[in-house]
Amino acid sequence: MLQVRPAKPDDASTVMALKQAVLQQSRFLLLEVDEYQPTEAAEVRFIVDLAKADNGLYLLAMDDDIAVGHLVARGGCFRRNRHSANVFMAVHQDYWGRGIGRQLIDALLAWFADSRLTRLELTTAIDNNRAISLYQSAGFEIEGCKRGDIRIDGETVDSYLMSFLKNLPNPRTHDDEDTI
Ligand SMILES: CC(C)(COP(=O)(O)OP(=O)(O)OC[C@H]1O[C@@H](n2cnc3c(N)ncnc32)[C@H](O)[C@@H]1OP(=O)(O)O)[C@@H](O)C(=O)NCCC(=O)NCCS
Repeated sequence: MLQVRPAKPDDASTVMALKQAVLQQSRFLLLEVDEYQPTEAAEVRFIVDLAKADNGLYLLAMDDDIAVGHLVARGGCFRRNRHSANVFMAVHQDYWGRGIGRQLIDALLAWFADSRLTRLELTTAIDNNRAISLYQSAGFEIEGCKRGDIRIDGETVDSYLMSFLKNLPNPRTHDDEDTI
């Protein structure tokens, strides 16, 4: 059964397998597959650190006990950027198009509404149509284009900087924003 829930330290090994798979499957992620050299201890630390942070979130989409999608939101470390979190996500290719990306984003936005954060941001290659369409339909907006941002297979590619803000009229902003 598919379920979206926060990551737990016990999930480290299935998270490692998921990351290795998605890095092989998609050219739109930042790391190339051989740049990911995981240790279980490092994955556990990453999960625990995000669980402890009041401005961080690590969500997994689980098919029974196998991680098939993940989403990370990491807030800044300083008083001047603690309110803003950087987001990235990926879903295993065998599970694309089944609404898992949408479930992960919806869970992110519900958490964001209850948090003290006021800004979510992410970057995505300008030709990553599936991701851009998901983010825009959830209420993220394109703020600008980062020219020559990344190199994919030797080719320089522009990225969009996208954001979702609490104090602006995003279409899917939750009702309790006044309490933040
Ligand atoms: C982007 C990604 C997370 C989407 O996950 P997913 O589980 O397939 O997403 P969903 O099934 O929830 O579909 C999301 C939306 O994309 C739309 N979509 C599906 N295929 C599409 C396509 N080829 N072009 C444009 N939009 C598309 C769907 O209609 C859906 O919109 P809706 O909810 O309004 O109907 C997934 O494809 C992925 O991991 N890609 C590789 C890694 C990546 O690019 N990560 C993002 C880096 S910024």
